[in-house]
Amino acid sequence: MQILDGTLVAAHIKEQLKKEVEELKAKGGKTPHLAAILVGNNPASEAYVGHKVKTCAELGFESTLLRFDTSITEKALLEQVKKLNEDDGVDGILVQLPLPDHISPDLIINNINPDKDVDGFHPISQGKMMLGQPTFLPATPYGIMLMLEHYNIDVAGKHCVIIGRSNIVGTPMTILLSRNTNPGNATVTLCHSRTKNLEEITKTADVIVAAIGKPKFVTANMVREGAIVIDVGINRIDDPTRKSGSRLVGDVDFDNVAPLCSYITPVPKGVGPMTICGLMKNTLEAAKLPKHMYN
Ligand code: GUN
Repeated sequence: MQILDGTLVAAHIKEQLKKEVEELKAKGGKTPHLAAILVGNNPASEAYVGHKVKTCAELGFESTLLRFDTSITEKALLEQVKKLNEDDGVDGILVQLPLPDHISPDLIINNINPDKDVDGFHPISQGKMMLGQPTFLPATPYGIMLMLEHYNIDVAGKHCVIIGRSNIVGTPMTILLSRNTNPGNATVTLCHSRTKNLEEITKTADVIVAAIGKPKFVTANMVREGAIVIDVGINRIDDPTRKSGSRLVGDVDFDNVAPLCSYITPVPKGVGPMTICGLMKNTLEAAKLPKHMYN
């Protein structure tokens, strides 16, 4: 069993990105600038956005964090997005999800300039991805593809079972793994809350991508010997043995599943750092685009 070490792979990619930014700046190019919007103070969202801003600084990117109280209206948030769309200094816009119930994430995302949609959530980005056209890929699926590439894991012809059909992870993963690229060319099954006989299906998987958001959902009886398991879950559970009283676990029961696997991602330090790499790669590409293509 080999651990797919997200921290290690991310360190390699970040080193490359840092060099590329230095070269870009030396040639008089633009410093990539990511603007992040955070509404409210959800601790997980705070942590994710904090990591993204910190990574920008590490790589020589500029970043702006705009924080708003949960009382912000949908209209006011929309105005903020439009301001960032029009600001030529800003290359990438990220609106951290989830948003409060009174704000439609679809409306906000649909109003991000697709040339600045470094999260790859805009319908134009998602449509282009589906058609295999160059675009910003959603950060987590992109990060997983970069991880497979780094470890030379060939999924062509393999049966990949994805558990969870979110717009952010599960659904885009089905597209990326099945398209005619490398990595890609897999046979994909998408499972969700209405799937019958889940265990029978996952037992036939060469690769399992778990993106359900339920702690330790994937158990040893669901995994065949030699499978590759990618755990996208980040769940906080109580742990009285820890000083903090809690710890992070994935969607996979790691202790019991790992011995069966050929490769497995841990939580933390698996997919999480790769998501940030995906976002940073998108932001660098956005910085290279001419501005005002959309407005
Ligand atoms: N919430 C959970 N994952 C993500 C992500 O990748 N991007 C944004 N913007 N919000 C998220």
